[in-house]
Amino acid sequence: MTDKTTKEPVLIDMWLAAQTASAQITLSCAKTITGLCHAAAGIAALAAENGIAQAQLGGLTGTHNEDGDQQKALDVLADELIAQHMRGTGIYAYLSEERDGPLIMDEGGALVLACDPLDGSSNIDTNLTIGTIFSVYPADSADCLATGRSQQAAGFFAYGPQTALLITTGHGVAAFCLNDRGVFQQMDWQVQIPAETGEFAINAANSRYWSPAVSNYIDQLLAGKDGPRARNFNMRWNGSLVADAFRIFRRGGIFLYPQDSRRGYEQGRLRLVYEANPIAFLAEQAGGRATDGTQPILDIRPLTLHQRVPLIFGSADEVDTAASQL
Ligand code: AHG
Ligand code: MN
Ligand code: MN
Repeated sequence: MTDKTTKEPVLIDMWLAAQTASAQITLSCAKTITGLCHAAAGIAALAAENGIAQAQLGGLTGTHNEDGDQQKALDVLADELIAQHMRGTGIYAYLSEERDGPLIMDEGGALVLACDPLDGSSNIDTNLTIGTIFSVYPADSADCLATGRSQQAAGFFAYGPQTALLITTGHGVAAFCLNDRGVFQQMDWQVQIPAETGEFAINAANSRYWSPAVSNYIDQLLAGKDGPRARNFNMRWNGSLVADAFRIFRRGGIFLYPQDSRRGYEQGRLRLVYEANPIAFLAEQAGGRATDGTQPILDIRPLTLHQRVPLIFGSADEVDTAASQL
């Protein structure tokens, strides 16, 4: 995308300056996003190193995060890189999937950054798209938590064939790609999720654990044109929320990670604060929907940093159809 007057490509710092000038975001928020872009370029470089390094980066550290996930080397490195780049941004606290609680940065800060430093960790050594998810919101409560509606900015970086960024400040979704000079340059892409879709994403290996309502909904999709939906559906599942989300923002689709009967999965697998909330903000800003099956994700007040939530998001009409059956 080029600037209408100068015809110059729009780079992230120009976009952030315009957002700050029009008071869409605060200067501290702009500095936070600039820091995230530098950290993301570093994470992309680490992830893209030769296979030997990747195997090591995909290797287990022997530690577990608060949610019980085994931590990969790149999970921890990504988290530390982000924390380093938050110094001087003026945020009050940094919250992370890889940390038990808030890292207080600037006592006088007004914002909180919550991150999934590396999403899709199980794919690190399989060379599939992984990413970093972020959410910026006011530091208005002692527990540094807030509903998704209060987010000032949110988005995710995708480390794939392109290193891309989808970001929203509440006025639509903008798309950027890391250019050959290592700078995020705005893409000529009006990010809108088509209302209808013929593609769904769910981990079908868990089907024996689903509720009857989820099983019935998926069975209708699988029945295709001979079934009640009278059309065929395709399925994709990456095991990387960022990879599935990027595809849905590109061509539509519905993503489901519902609650299931496994111990620990009573609220699904994905975390509200640093996965569902930022994805839901982006989805709604791109004309899509995001629900836990009963209410919009953005209306849920988090009680703990790592709490899980059932997540269904994507094409508005299909999410409405699914939610009406769940
Ligand atoms: P993370 O790597 O940050 O823990 O996230 C993994 C998440 C998400 O990226 C993906 O959609 C989901 O886990 C896949 O879950 P399953 O492995 O149960 O399919
Ligand atoms: Mn994740
Ligand atoms: Mn993660």
